[in-house]
Amino acid sequence: MDSRTPVPLLPMMANHQKQNMRDHLLAVQEIVLGLATDDFAAIEKAASRIGFSDREAAMCNHMGAGAPAFIEQALAFHHQADRIGEAARARDRAKVATELGATLQTCTSCHATWKQQIVDEATWTRLTGGAPPMMDHGAMMKPGAMMKPGAMPGMDHGAMDHGAMKHDPPTP
Ligand code: HEC
Repeated sequence: MDSRTPVPLLPMMANHQKQNMRDHLLAVQEIVLGLATDDFAAIEKAASRIGFSDREAAMCNHMGAGAPAFIEQALAFHHQADRIGEAARARDRAKVATELGATLQTCTSCHATWKQQIVDEATWTRLTGGAPPMMDHGAMMKPGAMMKPGAMPGMDHGAMDHGAMKHDPPTP
């Protein structure tokens, strides 16, 4: 009945992913309100929450460890969202709206393709073939923790192959 492809996730990760998603929707809300009031600074700020960063990329890699095509879609989404911020910096209302539309397209196409599949540790290890070490989800879930550098002590950024994702290497 539901033909979406499963993304295997441990329960904590699934919860964290949904928290992220709800914040994505909040960012979209703030962008739309910013458009309505010509508040480009607010648009830039909201867009930066869904834009690309090493931290977001690391998270997407972790979330998609058992579904590589998911990672690609996730990264494309963050790069597309960056264009909203660029348009806001240029004070170009029409372009903000266009890029927001294109970004929402990446949201809806991902939602049409993937669904969460909650798995246990053994299944996770089997499906990911020994993914990078678990990040400290506890630390990330504290309010604001995701914004602080070093908030993910368990993350092994080195183990993730940024080159393979066709991305600029992280700036040291
Ligand atoms: C790379 C894929 C991907 C992208 C891009 C994406 N999402 Fe999601 N989203 C998901 C998945 C997977 C779920 C969980 C679906 C399920 O319940 O199985 C989800 C769930 C959600 C939920 C439900 C959260 C809950 O509490 O149940 C919201 C809201 C949401 N996404 C908003 C957004 C918005 C807004 C965007 C774009 C700005 C976006 N998402 C982009 C994959 C994505």
